[in-house]
Amino acid sequence: MYWPLQENFLDNNVINQLCNFIKRNKRFTQFKKVKEFEKKFSKWNNSKYSVLVNSGSSANLIIIQAAKEYYNWKNNDEIIVPAVTWPTTVTPIIQSGLKPVFVDVNLNDFSFDYSDLKKKVSKKTKAIFIAHLIGFPSDVKKINEIIGKRNIKILEDCCESQGASINNKKIGNFGVAGSFSFYWGHHMSTIEGGMITTNDKKFYNLCLLKRSHGLARELPNKDQNLYKRKYKNRNFKFLFVSDGFNLRSTEINAYLGVIMLNKINQWIKIRNKNYNNFTQILNKYKKTLNIANNKNISSFVLPFLMKNKTEKIQLEKQLNFKGIETRPFIAGNLLNQPFLKSKYSSQKFKNSNFIDNNCFYIGNNQFVNKSRLNKLNKILDKFFSKKK
Ligand SMILES: Cc1ncc(COP(=O)(O)O)c(C=O)c1O
Repeated sequence: MYWPLQENFLDNNVINQLCNFIKRNKRFTQFKKVKEFEKKFSKWNNSKYSVLVNSGSSANLIIIQAAKEYYNWKNNDEIIVPAVTWPTTVTPIIQSGLKPVFVDVNLNDFSFDYSDLKKKVSKKTKAIFIAHLIGFPSDVKKINEIIGKRNIKILEDCCESQGASINNKKIGNFGVAGSFSFYWGHHMSTIEGGMITTNDKKFYNLCLLKRSHGLARELPNKDQNLYKRKYKNRNFKFLFVSDGFNLRSTEINAYLGVIMLNKINQWIKIRNKNYNNFTQILNKYKKTLNIANNKNISSFVLPFLMKNKTEKIQLEKQLNFKGIETRPFIAGNLLNQPFLKSKYSSQKFKNSNFIDNNCFYIGNNQFVNKSRLNKLNKILDKFFSKKK
């Protein structure tokens, strides 16, 4: 059996569509398709505004940089992050001169350990950067209860959980802004790509500026007038009103995004059906592994949370031997990664370390089906029967 983490979703049909698009058009840098994809994504996610960028990491970088400027955060102001997430939820905070404050995670929705979160919120906290991981929506209600009346902003990393929802509201709408990734292995892909969602017009405008060098002409037409009036003596074509980057995407990636967005609902259904079948298989082995169940998920991968570390190593080896690709559970405990270890090694997080030592996952996507899961079932039966 060959069960890779992700497979080629660029079938002949899509490749032909893409070729025709390239033949028909003359401009491929950010233009009309980017706008069309953003508009359609906003509609799909029920968000007011979307900004297409070249990766989920770029989306996080812009969100942090824009929020720092918008809310006038100072260097060393604190942003709370989970100890388990992808590094680029955290690195933009460090790169922007802010201070990440790490919180342990829980093993039900893989977001914060909410009691640890309560302890870490302080007068210095400016924002909580939620990471909705492996398709599970974080408990935003609990987080809001912990925040109470304090002026603490919520930011959402939705890169692994596109389509997950809380009370019928899609993630990416619960704070200042949300980030999405369209990398190859994600729910939908533009090969490389990312999106920012926000419901705040001013924040949206700031993201547009930061995406593209700080150029005022990137703003919606109406909003350009303010700057045209204010800086009459400068050539508007090259008027820079914010520090920025170039994190733009292309028309080609946006074209793929529009195609993939038409398929995403169906794919999420398949992913969630696979996840349910997977947990039914795992139910037989409850004594040896934990099973995460949650409502309104948009399953990203199929996780194994093994109670015994040696057994985890053996099972992962066996699955690899049978042709099933595996990965660590995201980056494990980020504080054990070399780039952070020297600064934060004194912090011990029980659940994050459990994830680091005892967990891994296999791929889930529109190509995974009942027949593959049946084969997995047989492999697991054999593996665990030998253990008895
Ligand atoms: C939680 C999380 N945040 C951010 C990212 C970064 O996305 P990208 O790979 O598109 O830069 C990822 C990537 O997998 C992720 O899992």
